[in-house]
Parts: sequence; C-alpha cells; structure tokens
Amino acid sequence: MELSSVVRPNILALEPYSCARDEFKGEASVFLDANESPYNNGLNRYPDPLQSEVKRLLAPLKGVHEDQIFLGNGSDEAIDLIYRIFCQPHSDNVVAISPSYGMYKVCADVNDVLYHAVPLTADFQIDRKALAGRVTLRTKVIWICSPNNPTGNAFPQADIEFFASRYPNKIIVVDEAYIDFSSQPSMTSLLDRYPNLIVLQTFSKAWGHAAMRLGIAMASREIISLFNKVKYPYNVSELTQREAVRMLTDDVDKVRDQIEEVLAQRDVLRQLLLSLPCVECVYPSDANFLLVRVSDANAIYMYLQQQGVIVRNRNSVQLCAGCLRITVGTPEENATLFNELKTYTR
Ligand SMILES: Cc1ncc(COP(=O)(O)O)c(C=O)c1O
Repeated sequence: MELSSVVRPNILALEPYSCARDEFKGEASVFLDANESPYNNGLNRYPDPLQSEVKRLLAPLKGVHEDQIFLGNGSDEAIDLIYRIFCQPHSDNVVAISPSYGMYKVCADVNDVLYHAVPLTADFQIDRKALAGRVTLRTKVIWICSPNNPTGNAFPQADIEFFASRYPNKIIVVDEAYIDFSSQPSMTSLLDRYPNLIVLQTFSKAWGHAAMRLGIAMASREIISLFNKVKYPYNVSELTQREAVRMLTDDVDKVRDQIEEVLAQRDVLRQLLLSLPCVECVYPSDANFLLVRVSDANAIYMYLQQQGVIVRNRNSVQLCAGCLRITVGTPEENATLFNELKTYTR
C-alpha cells in the first residue's frame, strides 16, 4: 500500500508533540522535567504515553507485535482517530455497512466527512456489489463491524479479504468489539497480508471493563505510528494501565470462563425467548446480545421499561423494524426478563 496516498497530507507532515516521557524514558532518581507534583500519592506522575507494559502482555494474547497495537480511550477513540488521520474534511468519504454501530456516522459528521451507508441484504449479509458500487476515488475508509452491532452476525473472512485485496489503497476497518463471543476467528491473522487493514477490539465487552475505557487498534507498524503521532500524549490513564496489566496477569482464565458462561446463557435465553408468543424471531448471534423481532417493539420496550428491565429498541433502525436488542445477562437477569415477557399479554 502507498500509505502517503491515503493519509491526510497535514498528518503525514505533522511534527508530533514531544512530551517529557517521550524525551526521557529511563530510570532516574530525580524527575524535574514534567512540572508534576513532587509529592508521591501514587498518581502524581504522568503515565507511560505508549502503555508499553499493557502492550507487552497483550501482544502475545493477540498474536501481533507490540508496535502493531494502539491503545485508546475506548475503541471510540480509535474510530475518531481513523477519520482524523485518513479523511480530509469536506472532500473525502467513507463507506459502511448498514445497520451498524452508530459512532462511525457520528464521527464522520464531527469530522465533516461524507458517510455512505450501504444496506446489508435481508439476511444481514454484506452486499459486496452494492458496497463496491459506493466506493469512489475519494473513499478513504470502508467500515465493517464483525460481529455486527446490532444484527449480531459475523461476516465471512472472504468478505474482508474481498475488500482488502480489491482496495489496497483504502483503509478497511474491521470492528471486532464482540469477537470473543464469536465462532469466527479474529481477522488479526490477516494483518501481515493486508497492510491496509485495521482491526479494532475492546476491553468493554468480554473483558468486562467498559468503565475502564480501553480500546485496541491493531494494524501495520506504519499505521500504528500514525495513531501515535495524532493521539493526545497521555490518552490512557495510569489507573487504566494498572488495571489492564493486572487483568492481563491475573484474569485471563476468569474472562475465558465468563465468555463460556455468556455463550451458554445466550443459548438458554434464545430458547426461552422462542417459547414466547410475542417473539417472532431470534436472529443468530456471534455476540453477547440477541436481536429479537417481536410483535410490537415499541410497546414491549415500554412495558419492559416500566417493569425496570431495559433493553435497546432498534425498531427505527434500517432492516431492524420490530426488533429489540437484548444483551445476555446473568441467569437471574435473563430469568427476570423472561418472566416479565411471559406476563406481557397485548
Ligand atoms: C461495534 C462496537 N464498536 C465499538 C464500541 C465501543 O467500544 P468502546 O467501549 O471500546 O469505546 C461498541 C460499543 O457498544 C460497539 O458496539
């Protein structure tokens, strides 16, 4: 890939801010270089701007090199950075499957980048021809969320490879926020073959740390160095880095067990829902939620809310008319949802 043809010229030319922790990284006894407070309370020093320890532990788990990883304030930070790195406001465009995760469009709007939403087929597959039909010379990014939010399904690797090989000078983003719940493998295995590929993951879902705000982008070293150039110097807090290191050291098996539990509960919940008269269809899921078509989505959403059970109403989303998106909860939470729905009579 000719990176210079896809990166904004001002970003290519950017002289990044050099923070104190960039200029001196070693051991020393006296640090008077960053205008920090000298009084040690455990948080008085700026954190590692490149989160080296987190990446050292994460890289082998993901099968990539440390310098192929960017960490941000949720994967939402990576989504926004992708626009800021590649898309010239007011002239470039991106293409995305629809329906999909809402932040791709919000970040496009914030960055004044034209957003082409291309509907999936009726059975939620990628319409390759329709998607390719929206790609123009000024298209910089193709967004593919897999497993997709809100439809729940993962797309075949062949779809990703189709776009990555057909458009070597455009960025293909595969958002794998839900990959740990999927029967499909991660597309990180394609990174060496496709230098135009970016894979997003997060600690917010299977890792159970949505409040911590830690998102992952994996790509070629060249693309990751662009992320590092544009990001805020200390974009991941010390608290987040410490907790991530702790989790990656202590919690890997626990998280695996929790994923197994969610997958088992996803099946239980599917069967329970299918037994209800108000449920018309439960779509296949590779994620930790089920997209469920019901007899009257708005009424059932409101009814559940009145019972203190909150689900996501996707009734007004393209291809999702009549649908609620229901996250798989604990066995008790799922039973509560089921019991409330059982008493719903309209
Ligand atoms: C597909 C997808 N990508 C990204 C995110 C955001 O993740 P994070 O919490 O890492 O910002 C979400 C959140 O729901 C999501 O559904």
